[in-house]
Amino acid sequence: MVLQWYPGHMNKAKNQVQERLKVVDIVLEIVDARLPYSSRNPILEQIINQKKHIIILNKADLADPKLTNDWILNYKQEGTASIESDAKHNKLAKLNSLIRSELADKIDKYERNGVKNYQIKAMCVGIPNVGKSTILNKMVGKNVAVTGNKPGVTKNQNWLKTNYGIDLLDTPGILWPKITDPKVGMKLALSGAIKDKIYPPDDVAIFALNFLQTNYLDRIMSVYDLDKSDVNNHTTAELLMNLTKKFGYKEDYDRAARRVIMDVRNLKFGRITFDIPGEFYEE
Ligand code: G4P
Repeated sequence: MVLQWYPGHMNKAKNQVQERLKVVDIVLEIVDARLPYSSRNPILEQIINQKKHIIILNKADLADPKLTNDWILNYKQEGTASIESDAKHNKLAKLNSLIRSELADKIDKYERNGVKNYQIKAMCVGIPNVGKSTILNKMVGKNVAVTGNKPGVTKNQNWLKTNYGIDLLDTPGILWPKITDPKVGMKLALSGAIKDKIYPPDDVAIFALNFLQTNYLDRIMSVYDLDKSDVNNHTTAELLMNLTKKFGYKEDYDRAARRVIMDVRNLKFGRITFDIPGEFYEE
């Protein structure tokens, strides 16, 4: 396992988040809508409840819409507001309204005390690659570098002005996903959230084929033109070997594995969500 998440790093990141929590009204936790469980950071889950908190299910354009709704309901039942977002293609107007409604009591209190146009202070957090920079840029209206994405960059607290009457605190240092569960690692690899070289492609492709057979059987059968015997009478490893031949790649299983992974990422099987609400995870 190459992804490292040492106790030292963990404490440093935790301190940085806690320092920033003191000065913001609300935390915008960005997750990948395809991985609403696996793309969360364990530290944030522990300490974020001290603050108002919105989960942004970003990259919703890539996720299964039904499961995105299920996740939103699931978070609601847990008492956390959430919203879907496609920051790459759309504006974030609904996010602005949600932030205001979550902070309505606080804003009212300030207004009753004569403070007009209370400037909301928010912070965007999330593991790398979920779309923090994209969201920040949309909110600020221009390109800004997210210092938290770069290891070793000094973390001064920089405030960014947005067009919505919200000040955004630059994100803290790198926050890694939880990688204690191998299934989580596979899902992160399959989605492209972590570098391809971390896991062997055949492991990721076998995980993908297995996941598709279990959750999206019709789609995999139609995309790869499979019949029932192809999926029922073979192990997933055998299925990958058979697909290698079918693709015309002779015995180049890695090439076939990489193709399966890219087919998932390029929506060949349609919009897919890898985390199912209520799925049991052993940590
Ligand atoms: P980060 O700061 O959290 O590390 O993530 P960043 O914004 O850099 O986004 C990582 C990648 O995800 C980028 O793609 C970005 O365009 C893409 N992305 C962000 N939000 C969305 C979204 O809502 N939907 C989709 N489909 N993609 C999104 P990239 O390939 O690295 O860069 P680019 O070629 O798109 O510029």
